[in-house]
Amino acid sequence: MENNYSKIRNLKEEISESSLNKKVCIFGQGFVGLPLALSFALRGCDTIGVDVNSSLVEDINNGITHHTEKFYNVTIQEILKVQLKEGRYKATIDAEGAVKNCNNIIVTVGIPIKNGNYIMDHLKEACTLIGRNIKRQDLVVVRSTVIPGTTEEFILPILEKESGMKAGEDFYLAYASERIAEGNAFDEFANMPTLVGAINEASLQRAMSLLSIVCKAEMVPASNIKAVETSKVFENVQRDVNIAMSQEFARFAEALGIDIFEVIRLANTHKRVNLLTPGPGVGGYCIPNAYHYISPKANELSVNMELLKLAREKNEKLPQFIVDKTKELLKSVNKDIKNSKIAVLGLAMKDYSNDDRISPPIDITKLLIKEGADVKAFDPIVPTKYPFKVNTQEEALKDADVVLVLTKQYQIKFDDLEYIKNLMKTSPIYIDTKAVVDSEKAKQLGFKYWRI
Ligand SMILES: NC(=O)c1ccc[n+]([C@@H]2O[C@H](COP(=O)([O-])OP(=O)(O)OC[C@H]3O[C@@H](n4cnc5c(N)ncnc54)[C@H](O)[C@@H]3O)[C@@H](O)[C@H]2O)c1
Repeated sequence: MENNYSKIRNLKEEISESSLNKKVCIFGQGFVGLPLALSFALRGCDTIGVDVNSSLVEDINNGITHHTEKFYNVTIQEILKVQLKEGRYKATIDAEGAVKNCNNIIVTVGIPIKNGNYIMDHLKEACTLIGRNIKRQDLVVVRSTVIPGTTEEFILPILEKESGMKAGEDFYLAYASERIAEGNAFDEFANMPTLVGAINEASLQRAMSLLSIVCKAEMVPASNIKAVETSKVFENVQRDVNIAMSQEFARFAEALGIDIFEVIRLANTHKRVNLLTPGPGVGGYCIPNAYHYISPKANELSVNMELLKLAREKNEKLPQFIVDKTKELLKSVNKDIKNSKIAVLGLAMKDYSNDDRISPPIDITKLLIKEGADVKAFDPIVPTKYPFKVNTQEEALKDADVVLVLTKQYQIKFDDLEYIKNLMKTSPIYIDTKAVVDSEKAKQLGFKYWRI
């Protein structure tokens, strides 16, 4: 641990004297904001994390976070504790005080989507407070994923109105898309190229100088803000479309009697092919929301985006598809979903994550319960409490008719087939949406096995 931490300590040497003690304030201390704030703190900046969630702020200031991030093998919990102790970082709900005390303000507050509609309230509230408290020469960098046009058409007017100052003349404004994947945040802040757009050259230079404290990869200046906002949403939506396509490929492969995971592995040996894998749905804050960030602007511009819409609709139907498949497989062994016990393994929105926001496994579990199934779900790293969640894999599997694999976690024994079978009822069914077990071995052991 000491060795790894010393690698992190040396990060301070990467920065110049002028960057040391730079005052940085980061709005939003969630999956992006907290590791980003700690990344600045690690490199010698005086960093304040602002959040409206007072219990989150209290936990963070006590060194507590559920995030699973690591940097040079040091956990985020350890990094947080050291940065708090060294006084380089603290969290607060006092947005006013934080902005008044900083010259560099970064926004990571998101735009939630509810029933396909975007909600600007959180971003509006954050920008209003920033606008009321910024000073001449301050820099505001937006890093949230937004509907293209948001920085100039929504954020800029709020900042100017509330501050009484002119963007580009009195304060600086830029947008830099956030491209990390949860679980790799520290590494990707440092090693993923950062795209930056700004309202003028001075803002661009200020933003690139600030962001390069953390980003050691290429800084890519863009000619305008909308290009960066749009590229971020396109990056996400292309994954949505790719997964919808893989899902159709999976149905084709199944009908042909071949394994889709093998087909994708083969196809991806081509240097210019990158097929994503099919699964029980598309989860998380980023990919499912991407279409809903494009469509409002597309509608305003009268641009037809029917392919993207269709992909989103197809992916939204995946949880129901898995439930229908479960019913069909149960029927084939003369069982009814109403009297069946189902062991769900994995509840996170993606493999090895503890994030269960917009999580297809949660949707599937709820749909199964609605159908009358008795569901016991096991995911040892998702912290959220659910009535259907149990504490051990054994509890989930005991007397189950179906084992339903939805998210991979290192702590779950997916392929100890004899152990699983011994706990389950007769005619056990193994539904494997993640290709975690050898299908032949499962069949030989007497499982009715189905892979996506
Ligand atoms: N999670 C990812 O992997 C990821 C990756 C790239 C980009 N993004 C984008 O980054 C942004 C943040 O995502 P996240 O996953 O960190 O979300 P999150 O929900 O984990 O964090 C957002 C935080 O903002 C806080 N907040 C809400 N209103 C606020 C206000 N007025 N002032 C201060 N804080 C406020 C919330 O309490 C929450 O803690 C989103 O735009 C998202 O699309 C996320």
